[in-house]
Amino acid sequence: MAPAQSLLLNTGRRIPTVGLGVYKTPAEQCVSLVHEALNLGYRHIDSAALYYNEEEVCEGISNWLAEDPSRKREEVFYTTKIGDAFHGYDKTKNAIKVSLEKAKKIQYIDLILIHSPQSDGDRRHGTWKALEEAYEAGTVKNIGVSNYGIKHLKELLAYPDLKVKPAINQFELHPWLQRPELVGFCRQHDIAVEAYSPLARGHKVADPVVVKIADKYNKTAAQILIRWSLEQGFITLPKTANKARLAPNLDVFSFDLAPEDLETLNGLEENYISGWDPTTYPLDSEKS
Ligand SMILES: NC(=O)c1ccc[n+]([C@@H]2O[C@H](COP(=O)([O-])OP(=O)(O)OC[C@H]3O[C@@H](n4cnc5c(N)ncnc54)[C@H](OP(=O)(O)O)[C@@H]3O)[C@@H](O)[C@H]2O)c1
Repeated sequence: MAPAQSLLLNTGRRIPTVGLGVYKTPAEQCVSLVHEALNLGYRHIDSAALYYNEEEVCEGISNWLAEDPSRKREEVFYTTKIGDAFHGYDKTKNAIKVSLEKAKKIQYIDLILIHSPQSDGDRRHGTWKALEEAYEAGTVKNIGVSNYGIKHLKELLAYPDLKVKPAINQFELHPWLQRPELVGFCRQHDIAVEAYSPLARGHKVADPVVVKIADKYNKTAAQILIRWSLEQGFITLPKTANKARLAPNLDVFSFDLAPEDLETLNGLEENYISGWDPTTYPLDSEKS
């Protein structure tokens, strides 16, 4: 059975399960790339303040919406993230304002994540309070975290003044890095799991095991990896800045992967981190 095209978050709002990642996509390409992606059926774009392309991503969305009055803002899900340098209540309040200003052509932000837990307990707490306020004001429809390990999630869930639980934790996940404990913890707490770097940053698209499975289905290795991610129940965020790859990377609902092939992919685990891993960042009590 094909996986769901969208999932319900703990806020009651839905999120499309495939999002286009735009990390390292040059800002000058984003207006046209995002517009093309939306034409091809993408309905979810994952950006961040640190990607320096928020404004262009929003312009691409806004141009696409403006082309046809029957298109509604609610059809598109736009994510951005607060960088580590902007942790703490005041700095985050301001960072949210800056991101909202960059998103003004699309009126609101669907999701803001804390990009990583890399600061300290007080600043993480202040950041969460500022995000809760934006959520309550309605300018940001969902709030969540990224690169949070179990210990960071436990810290957040234990805030005595917690008003809003994270809707999402976004972290690196693919067959070579499956993190069952972190995935399980998120699920236990009704926090949706978003898989970033589902192609292991492109490092694994020539892996012979994946290529063999791809050949069997007459699909690309990237399609097999994106489908594997969806089969796990993840929201998945493949990045491409190459317009020719947009359509195939989204064409992942029209075929099934046999249980034995999923099993083979599951056997690739090797704790492979393709980028950074802030999930292990020390809590204050662990710092010497
Ligand atoms: N929260 C975080 O800390 C964090 C960290 C990393 C990523 N992310 C998010 O997750 C998204 C995806 O992760 P990622 O960008 O690290 O890596 P990824 O999606 O795993 O891989 C992207 C790489 O694969 C290549 N690629 C894409 N489609 C392909 C295909 N069909 N065949 C062969 N190669 C292909 C891309 O090149 P081309 O562009 O040339 O196609 C690029 O080099 C990011 O863009 C970002 O939105 C979040």
